[in-house]
Amino acid sequence: MSFTIAIDGPAAAGKGTLSRLIADHYGFHHLDTGLTYRATARALLEKGLPLDDEATAAALAENLDLNGLDRSVLSAHAIGEAASKIAVMGKVRSALVAAQRRFAGQEPGTVLDGRDIGTVVCPDAAVKLYVTASAEVRARRRYEEILARGETADFDRIFEDVKIRDARDMNRAESPLKPADDAHLLDTSEMSIEAAFDAARSLIDQALKTK
Ligand code: C5P
Repeated sequence: MSFTIAIDGPAAAGKGTLSRLIADHYGFHHLDTGLTYRATARALLEKGLPLDDEATAAALAENLDLNGLDRSVLSAHAIGEAASKIAVMGKVRSALVAAQRRFAGQEPGTVLDGRDIGTVVCPDAAVKLYVTASAEVRARRRYEEILARGETADFDRIFEDVKIRDARDMNRAESPLKPADDAHLLDTSEMSIEAAFDAARSLIDQALKTK
């Protein structure tokens, strides 16, 4: 049976970086499930279709190709906002969750990161991590990423957006963002990515021994 690692948490908590480090270290396949919501949202935006039409969004989600999802193409703020709006729709979620579960079955193992991996997509994952950081620290990271690209940004606006996105993800009826009961919490507010990786590795090594 494939060995799955589920990594959940809010935006900019460090789960993407951590997931890639883990996948590279163990030679596992990695899926950033946020990209599946972003790619569906981008397809709607590109075609000029409304963001509140569940049947249309679900049809696009069903036909999504998981190969070739590229964060650099999908990173725009407007795509993230649109993704979080269509992510409240049950039919969109069930189409994307089905594709994510197929991905999770691959040998020798997989790392999936998102909002509902440990709770809904892969409730039987061998290791579940919930990676978080304070809203202010996460907004600061986003702000610095934008400045590093040579662009300008307004910290207060980013901070507000982080809080609004958190509220939408945590309070929605369908698969709200929350730690699974058996998830290990990693708060990266004051923890380096190396320290988070070390903590994750010891949990994963332990689980691999008892596989
Ligand atoms: O992680 P990322 O910012 O790319 O995700 C974009 C949006 O997609 C999130 O705000 C969330 O609403 C949604 N999402 C989700 N479930 C996942 C991954 C992302 O609802 N597993």
